[in-house]
This record gives sequence, structure tokens and C-alpha cells, in this order.
Amino acid sequence: MAQEIMDLWPCKKFRPYLCPPQPTGPPPVWASTQRARLLGPKPNATGPRPRQTRPALGQRKEGERAERKDELMNHLLGRGVHIPRPAAANRGGTTTMEAAAISNPPSKRIALVTGGNKGVGLETCRQLASRGLRVVLTARNEARGLEAVDGIRRSGAADSDVVFHQLDVTDAASVARLADFVRDQFGRLDILINNAGISGVDRDPVLVAKVKDQIEGMDVDQRVEWMRENSKETYDEAKSCITTNYYGAKLVTEALLPLLLLSSSGRIVNVSSGFGLLRNFNSEDLRKQFDDIDSLTEKRLEELLDLFLDDFKANLIEAHGWPTGGSSAYKVAKAALNAYTRILAKKYPTLRINCLTPGYVKTDISMHMGVLTPEEGASNSVKVALLPDDGPTVAFVHLLVRHKMEGDISSLPTKRVAVVTGGNRGIGLEVCRQLAADGITVVLTARDETRGVEAAEKLRGMGLSSIVFHQLEVNNAAVGGMEYAQGVDANEEQFVGMDVLQRLQWMRKQGRETYDTAKNGVQTNYYGAKHVIQGLLPLLLSSSEGKIVNVSSSLGLLRFLGNEDLRKELDDIDNLTEERLDEVLASFLKDFEAGELEAHGWPMGSAAYKVAKVAMNAYTRISARKHPALRINCAHPGYVKTDLTINSGFLTPEEGARNVVTVALLPDGGPTGAFFDEGKEASFV
Ligand SMILES: NC(=O)c1ccc[n+]([C@@H]2O[C@H](COP(=O)([O-])OP(=O)(O)OC[C@H]3O[C@@H](n4cnc5c(N)ncnc54)[C@H](OP(=O)(O)O)[C@@H]3O)[C@@H](O)[C@H]2O)c1
Repeated sequence: MAQEIMDLWPCKKFRPYLCPPQPTGPPPVWASTQRARLLGPKPNATGPRPRQTRPALGQRKEGERAERKDELMNHLLGRGVHIPRPAAANRGGTTTMEAAAISNPPSKRIALVTGGNKGVGLETCRQLASRGLRVVLTARNEARGLEAVDGIRRSGAADSDVVFHQLDVTDAASVARLADFVRDQFGRLDILINNAGISGVDRDPVLVAKVKDQIEGMDVDQRVEWMRENSKETYDEAKSCITTNYYGAKLVTEALLPLLLLSSSGRIVNVSSGFGLLRNFNSEDLRKQFDDIDSLTEKRLEELLDLFLDDFKANLIEAHGWPTGGSSAYKVAKAALNAYTRILAKKYPTLRINCLTPGYVKTDISMHMGVLTPEEGASNSVKVALLPDDGPTVAFVHLLVRHKMEGDISSLPTKRVAVVTGGNRGIGLEVCRQLAADGITVVLTARDETRGVEAAEKLRGMGLSSIVFHQLEVNNAAVGGMEYAQGVDANEEQFVGMDVLQRLQWMRKQGRETYDTAKNGVQTNYYGAKHVIQGLLPLLLSSSEGKIVNVSSSLGLLRFLGNEDLRKELDDIDNLTEERLDEVLASFLKDFEAGELEAHGWPMGSAAYKVAKVAMNAYTRISARKHPALRINCAHPGYVKTDLTINSGFLTPEEGARNVVTVALLPDGGPTGAFFDEGKEASFV
């Protein structure tokens, strides 16, 4: 494996970043004694390696777009530096130092943090070092970086546990020197934390100095508003922001990727922001483009960033639906960083690649108006960096922090915290109410902000103050996989005397299953739940009593599958994989489209609903096996009177929710990987 990756270096893809031009900037890093001390032992000199020119911002076609990036970089550097274009590169073999580093790799994990001289970055370095990692603290300003390293060492870290290397993330030569350093020193990299960032706004330094006096007594919204009013966005700042926060992270990532691929547990953590969430975009089309991760490419992402800057210049931000309300460039750059994270995670499945928001932290970037300390903010980055090897990739982690930002909680919660999807009505709303009544802090989520806020307010109106709302679209939390005629509703009396089957039959008659409703049913009921689980897994794993309850249905029992082989396969939980579940769902949809459901033994009537719930049950069991520290179960709430059943059920939402809450509140050592039918453990078959 190691040699395989080493072999990548001379190839076009990575070589440009690892074979920088002759340095023109700072003198060699070993020049001063103090620096040599802080940097650790000097590598065996093997003579200067031949240097090559390389592209500044990834390899893309020459012409207008490349010029634009040069302009951005040169603007930012303010030094008229020429960013060289890629040249045919060819360096064969590895140096003695590299070979030594690779044959004798350091046993401690190696983490590298950008923007490590202050704020969240500095604290991240300190916490990683105190947890036994070797940390490369980087900063663009050498004096500030060296001082930061000294500070961490004074607080107890061993000299070799934290070393400094200069890095300006917008300077391609600086990035390449760093990659050389890490390769020569360690032969690999285990964790890259892209933390460096700027606000992208102009602020009056006098006001900044006075800010502490002015923020006393302000709540979070007032602080954000104050910051907006006292910040000015200029085109130059917007360009710098995109260059640093997006292109800087990308440049560093590309240079260090070969070294991350050499690690047995390589991770990339991109420090993003709640401002980068797509809901800050006003144009639906832009939101879709940034979110369409199956078709989005890095090239398209960069075209979108160009468009943003053009619109900024032409004063068309609002007209074209870009984020407004201040910090537009910051929001767009962080949204692009999130999308880039998702693209990368798809491209490099052996790495764990995630982004997070550290929260609203008291640092220079927030003019110290945040609500978290840098230690708290950094602990979020560290948590994501140290997720277990089987942890998620491509998650956006922000829950605890967001929760605190909502203002209800003055310190990170000591109470239990629950997230409920589809919490604005039906069983979900009742689950929120019952959990909150049980003293749990509940994050009620709903895809529609207005309906979600209303629901949360209604519960708060009942005296349940520990409810916060957060918008969440999972393709919504549950759909029946059917299309009903407008205005269909049940009249209680018509069901008198009808048993379950008769009621289900009545329901089926009211609706129609089409390929689109089936696809939507599978997408929401299976993939929606799976995505939410993957997104929240890091936080669940950091809880001492993490629990997942998948609200399933007795219609998802294996007995509804006519194909005996498939039934057995889906019940053989020791061998079943998520990939196989994907294949099963794809063949179900294919057969649906071809009108061959019955022929292939799929369930008939609410077919997609049943198959999606079968898959959800199987996924629950796979996840429970994978994460034994968590309790992961499915709960059938019963046949409940809600919109989903056109109110044809037997149980009230309160009763249905109670069956779900019972499973959520099972004791810590309780069952995992089980199916609960109306609160009682039952068979999956
Ligand atoms: N604070 C918050 O409330 C908050 C909220 C959400 C997300 N974040 C994100 O958290 C990260 C850390 O921010 P912070 O709050 O710790 O802010 P901070 O205290 O202002 O620190 C920013 C760091 O980034 C460095 N940096 C800026 N441009 C750089 C460049 N071209 N090359 C290398 N380093 C560069 C700065 O170095 P210099 O000292 O040389 O300027 C500094 O070390 C950022 O990505 C930010 O967007 C912060």
C-alpha cells in the first residue's frame, strides 16, 4: 500500500503540489536555532531535490478561469506574485529520508492543523497534543506560530509532541514546502484539520476594541446583528474570503492527500460554519446545485464561486438569490467547503472526511462575541478528528453547538438531548412532547420551518421549555409511498367494526402507488433515516448513553417478502451489508418500474413502504452490530390515527408515541438490534 501511494507522487495528479518551485520566500526552516528547536530534529539532508513548477489551484483548463484564480491569489498576497501553471513533472523514486520514514513510521498519530496560532486552531493543537498525538501546528506568521508552540509546550506538552511549520494556505509554494516537511519528517499524515479562516468583512478596529463593553446583556441574535451592522463587505474582502476559506483548504488538502492515503486511518476535518448551511441561500436553484452531490464537480463548484464573485461585483447578490444578511462571501465559501467535503468523501472512501461547525466561539473572527470558549469550540473539532475508525464520513456536525446558540442552554447540556425527525405533527410531535416532559432536551426537527417553529412554540406553551427547533429535510421523516386524492379524510364512524386488514384495504383504495411515489417512499423512509443517522453518529458516539430509535412498522416484517431466499438473506444479519441493502432496494425499484413486483415476490399494496421498512429494520441490525456502544432499535408504534394513515388507525398519537418513547428510554444496558412491537420486543420475521 505504502509503495502504491508513493508511486502516485511522480504522477501528474499529486506531483505538482509535492514538488514545489525553489522557495523564494522565507529562508530554510532550519536557519535559526530557536526554529530548529521548535521544529524538532532536522531531517538527514539528501541534497536539494529538483523542484518543479505546479498549478496553484488544482489542475484545470488554462484560460479565463485560471487567470481569475491567479488574480485572486495575487490580489490576496498583494505582492504581485506569479502563480506558476503546471509543468510536465517527473521525479522518480523516493529519497532515503522518505524511505526511512515510511519503513519506520512514528507510532503516535500525526495531526496537522492550519491556522494554529490562535483561537480554535490553537486550542485544537493543545487538546490533540494532550491526547497523545504529535501535532504539526501551522501558521502563516512564523513568529506567532512559534510563540503558540512555546505556549503549548509550557502547558506541559513534550517538545516532540508539537512542532511548528510555516503555512499560508493561499500560498502554493508555502503549501508545497509544508507537504515536503511532513513527508520527510513523518512519512505520512493521519489527521488534517483545515481550520484557517477569515471573516471576509471589513471592521473598524476602534469598534472591535470597544466591543466587550457593548455586548453585555445581548442575546445571540442581537450579537450577530450587531456584528453585521458593524461589518462592511467589500469585493476585495469577498475575494479574499473565497480564496482563503475555500481554495486555501482545497490547496492544502490536495497537497497532503498522498500522505493521508498512506495512513491506516486518514481523516480530514474541514472547519466549516453554520453560516455555510444551504438554507442561507435564497435561490432554490443554487441550493439544489450545491446540494446535488451526485452531479456536482469541483469544476462546477468553482464556476459557481466565480459567478458569486461576478454577482458581488455587479451588486446582484440579492437579485440572484445568494446569501444575504451580511457575511455573504463567508457563507458561500463555507457552503462550497461543505460541498467539497462531500465530493472528496465520495472520491476517497478509505479516508474519513467530515466537516463541522465549532459553534459560535469567542475568537478574533467573531470579535469575541461568541458564546463558546475556544476550548469548547476546539473540543468539537477534536471530537470529529478522533472519531472511531468505523465512524461516519461526509457528516456535517453541528448539533450541540447549534443547540447552545438557540439560547436556551447556558452551557453544554448536562441533560440528555434527543433529536426527533418529522417532529411537527403526528407521532413525531407527541414523541417530542413526551420526551420533553420526561426532562430531556428535545431538538424538534421539521422540513418546513414555519410548521416546525409553530410546533415547538405550541409545546413551549405547555410549559416544556427545553424544546428547540431545527430545520431538517430528510426527504421528510416518513411518507407512505402512496399518492392520495386531495381532501381524502376519514370519518371515525366508517371504521366501526372494521379490523386492521379492512382498514388497510380501505386506505389502499384511497391512494395509488406510482413509480415516483415508490421511489420517494424508499428515499425518505430508508435513505432519509440513514443519512440522519450518519450525520449524527459522531455526536451519538460521544454520548455515554447514545440511542437510536428507528420508527419502523409491522408492515416491514420479513414475512411480507414472498421470495424465500431474499427473506433469509435479509435475516442473516452476520453477513448482510449496507451495500447489499442498496442493491436490494435498487432491484425493487427496477421491478416496480417494469411492473414485475408480483413475479419477483415483492409485497403488494404499500409495496415501497413495506420494502423501505424491511430495509430500515435490516439497517438497524447492521448498525447495532457495528456500534455496540450504542443501543439501536426499531419501534413499531402501532396502527395510529395520523395523516399518514388518513386517520384510519386504532391508537391515538399519544399512545403511538408512548410505544416509541418506551424504546428510547430503555435502560442503558438494554437490548440493541431489536424490533419492538408496541413497546414489546418481537421478531423481525
Ligand atoms: N469563532 C466562531 O464563532 C466560528 C464559528 C463558525 C466557524 N468558525 C471557523 O473556525 C475556524 C477558526 O476560526 P477562529 O474562530 O479560531 O478564528 P481566529 O481566531 O480569527 O483564527 C483564524 C486562524 O486562521 C488563520 N488564517 C487566516 N488566514 C490564513 C492563511 N491565509 N493562511 C494560514 N492561516 C490563516 C489565522 O492566522 P493569523 O493569526 O495569521 O491571521 C488564525 O490562526 C475558521 O475556519 C472559522 O471560519 C468560527
